[in-house]
Amino acid sequence: MTKDQKKFYITTPIYYVNDKPHIGTAYTTIAADVLARLHRQLGEEVFFLTGTDEHGAKIAAAAETAGKKPQEFVDEISAKFSLAWDQLGIAPDKFIRTTDQEHISAVEKFLNQLKDSGKIYEGEYQGLYCVGHEAFIKESELVNGVCPDHKTKPQLLKEQNWFFKLSEYQSFLQEQITNRDFDIQPEARKNEVLSFIKQGLEDIAISRPNVKWGIPLPWDKNQTVYVWVEALFNYCSAIGYGQDDENFKKFWPADVQLMGKDIIKFHCVIWPALLTAIGEKIPKKVFAHGFFTVAGEKMSKSLGNVIDPNDWVAGYGADAVRYFLLREVPFGQDGDVSEDKLKVRFNGDLANGLGNLFSRTTNMIEKYLDGQIDNFYKSPKDLSEASEALYNLDFAHGLVKIWEEVAWANQLIDKAKPWELYKTDPGKVKELLLNLAALLLDIALKLSPVMPETANKIRSTLEGGDIKKAKPLFLKI
Ligand code: ME8
Ligand code: MG
Repeated sequence: MTKDQKKFYITTPIYYVNDKPHIGTAYTTIAADVLARLHRQLGEEVFFLTGTDEHGAKIAAAAETAGKKPQEFVDEISAKFSLAWDQLGIAPDKFIRTTDQEHISAVEKFLNQLKDSGKIYEGEYQGLYCVGHEAFIKESELVNGVCPDHKTKPQLLKEQNWFFKLSEYQSFLQEQITNRDFDIQPEARKNEVLSFIKQGLEDIAISRPNVKWGIPLPWDKNQTVYVWVEALFNYCSAIGYGQDDENFKKFWPADVQLMGKDIIKFHCVIWPALLTAIGEKIPKKVFAHGFFTVAGEKMSKSLGNVIDPNDWVAGYGADAVRYFLLREVPFGQDGDVSEDKLKVRFNGDLANGLGNLFSRTTNMIEKYLDGQIDNFYKSPKDLSEASEALYNLDFAHGLVKIWEEVAWANQLIDKAKPWELYKTDPGKVKELLLNLAALLLDIALKLSPVMPETANKIRSTLEGGDIKKAKPLFLKI
């Protein structure tokens, strides 16, 4: 990294390996990949982290149900995540697993520091535990005696635990969030976190005595680290905490932590408090997007109504799935998704829109210019309104702006009728086609973080490729 080069560290949650990936977990990871590609395009030094959360009671139970040893089970499911991301064109700089030895060593170091900070103590806890959440749940949060998210009955636990003095961080957190040093977006999520903090923070248990599948506390081997505490620390261990100080210093703190709105309390309350306790900086920004719903209900592994991204990639291609998920639901809001909706966007926006523009332009360049388009205008690499929207995580708006250009260019062809114009003014047709080629390249540049494969096809065809061999970008389904 040169002196003036900006760094950009972006993270996703690490997903539980109780089941295979679905399009909800794909959503966050695609969005992070888009931002990583965009910031790289702008010349920043980027580190994009994702991975899997593999310890704890929930995973141990899933392994048991599958009739497998925990390690064997998590190896299998974690590989499915990594493969699914690969199929979606997602290219993280690191895929962390919490069963990695480097993570375990970093967590041990972190816990020792936490103990030295004087912010932890031993005590007894009695409460209701929701295994789906991997968290204690309040009686008042239950609906008909069950967790409303997981539809399961919590366990009543009475345990000896180690506690973290979260209660001491109330005013610190309020201040950081209010003055935006710790920027929580969208605004609604920020207000939700602030009103939660305002109710008063209770100390939290950071260890579990009866969970074997986890990292033992360094000073009390009868307990394992509470899975959320070690999971959160992945953001530090992945960039070399305690092992590669230079890399850690280079990238920490995280610039953007992406996640769904289900886990903001962990990321916006517990996580910054833990970091502050050990003297580390807190992340700059959290962005919590909404939920995909299926027929109005949150799509989740626990509820079993999930859509497998591999099925959609097989039918429509990775770029179409990336486009659809970011275009269909404004980032930050909830929205229903389905294959029918994907198909509508595929045939409309992609095949009839961008695909048609590309085919018409390349066909006419072949027909009227014998495939020759040297010396045409190439657009400068500055940020357009579309790229700026992507930069600000307003993906749907950025894509709308790009598709306004697509529509404009298609209309231009309809109006100019080059097939007639050619008979009277071939020079005008040449000019039009060179402009269309330049416009397509400009679209490819703006679109490449979202649809890298499509952008490459457009570029390689128009820039020195063989236009006569151009294939359609999308075949109508
Ligand atoms: O919470 N719509 O993992 P998890 C949109 N291991 N996004 C969704 C979604 C939906 N219906 N369902 C899931 C965990 N997601 C912990 C995280 S981080 C230190 C530990 C996405 O497998 C969204 O990003 O339950 C959500 O926050 C995440 O998956 C939860 O994944
Ligand atoms: Mg979950």
